[in-house]
Amino acid sequence: MPDARGSATTGWSGRYDVVIVGAGHGGAHAAAALRQHGFAGSVAMVGDEPRLPYERPPLSKDYLSGETPFEQLLLHPPAFWQERDVEILTDRRVTTVDARAHRVRCDDGTVLEYGHLVWATGGTPRTLSCPGHDLGGVHTVRTVADSDRLRAELPAVTRAVVVGGGYIGLEAAAVLRAAGKHVTVVEAQDRVLARVAGAPLSRFYEALHRTHGVDLRLGASVERLEGASRVAGVRLADGELLPCELVIVGIGIVPAVAPLRAAGAAGSDGVVVDERCRTTLPDVFAIGDCAAHRNRFADDAVIRLESVQNAHDQAAVVARILAGTDARYDAVPWFWSKQYDLRLQTVGLSTGHDATVVRGDPATGRFSVVYLREGRVVALDCVNAVKDYVQGRKLVAARARVDPALLADPALPLKELASA
Ligand code: NAI
Repeated sequence: MPDARGSATTGWSGRYDVVIVGAGHGGAHAAAALRQHGFAGSVAMVGDEPRLPYERPPLSKDYLSGETPFEQLLLHPPAFWQERDVEILTDRRVTTVDARAHRVRCDDGTVLEYGHLVWATGGTPRTLSCPGHDLGGVHTVRTVADSDRLRAELPAVTRAVVVGGGYIGLEAAAVLRAAGKHVTVVEAQDRVLARVAGAPLSRFYEALHRTHGVDLRLGASVERLEGASRVAGVRLADGELLPCELVIVGIGIVPAVAPLRAAGAAGSDGVVVDERCRTTLPDVFAIGDCAAHRNRFADDAVIRLESVQNAHDQAAVVARILAGTDARYDAVPWFWSKQYDLRLQTVGLSTGHDATVVRGDPATGRFSVVYLREGRVVALDCVNAVKDYVQGRKLVAARARVDPALLADPALPLKELASA
């Protein structure tokens, strides 16, 4: 038998009532929540890393900077999983799903039969496809091993180029600047954080990074990476060469759903799930970054949400259903980021907004941006403004209609506007 340290031998086979594929935030919470809700059947979780489930957000923040050791990243100690009788099969990847036989096969030959399957594989980092993309010194950040490799090279690095001005790119840029590196960020769009935030917030973060000495290139694209075996520079499409010893690529993720799609699950970007997180395959659920679902906070569009919140809340829905209580996913989306000494907290989804209101003065480093659609509050980005974030949730959940002039007055607590 395998144990919670994942010592199952190659070619091991077995049957579990629930097999969870993916040992990230979604998979780990699904397993824990099954027991929390009284599920008594057998549970196995398969992960492709050699470790127990851990927190990913610090990988581009405090773990990358060396402030937080790995032990503090573990979601739960080994005893937690043993006490709950959750088998964790580490270091192997599910490559085939046979939906009719209710069976999965791993790359090491392990075969598992399941009663229900929970697909929680997240995504893999997109990589550049230009010449030089595979040179030494070119990194993505998704796993602790990625972050370790990057950290190990940092002492010998003076100049780094970060490709992508999303969360990964900007958080890594902040860490590298704090470590005294010369940092250039190359973003393809005309503003940073374009996928996740509105223009006022992008402008604030651009100014913040420039103030900290980051050389920020917007609307720029990479032609090729230059170097013999290690990267020595990034050639931009306009011909400029950015000399560097290290490149971090943070240009988004690709949902890891190939085996499930090959088994017939519907989907194009990820796999499609209903409000109970059920895929189109019998007894197969999908949760987290890879699950394309209809979301009322996105005007009922089918979207994927790449966030710990979504992975956690969808896991909770599946665990409840499997433990015998009906549940549907309808959670308010939230995200956070930390760059330098600023904590960004976002609630709701700003996509499709038609107006913004800035609360407070961005120059103070403490303010919020409220996003409205047809007069209703759909999202808030709060920078070092925890009260706005906490109180703004109610406005977002209710899609409250609030006078923009009142929202703009930071002296008026949002909770008063919510009750009004
Ligand atoms: P992202 O999708 O958030 O940002 C990617 C950025 O790269 C975008 O601004 C995009 O315009 C740009 N880009 C795309 N192709 C490019 C190219 N060829 N050249 C230059 N720029 C290009 O993805 P990111 O930052 O890689 O993050 C990956 C995942 O990790 C996401 O799921 C993200 O939500 C998650 N994450 C979340 C964090 C948080 O919640 N604080 C922190 C770090 C990562």
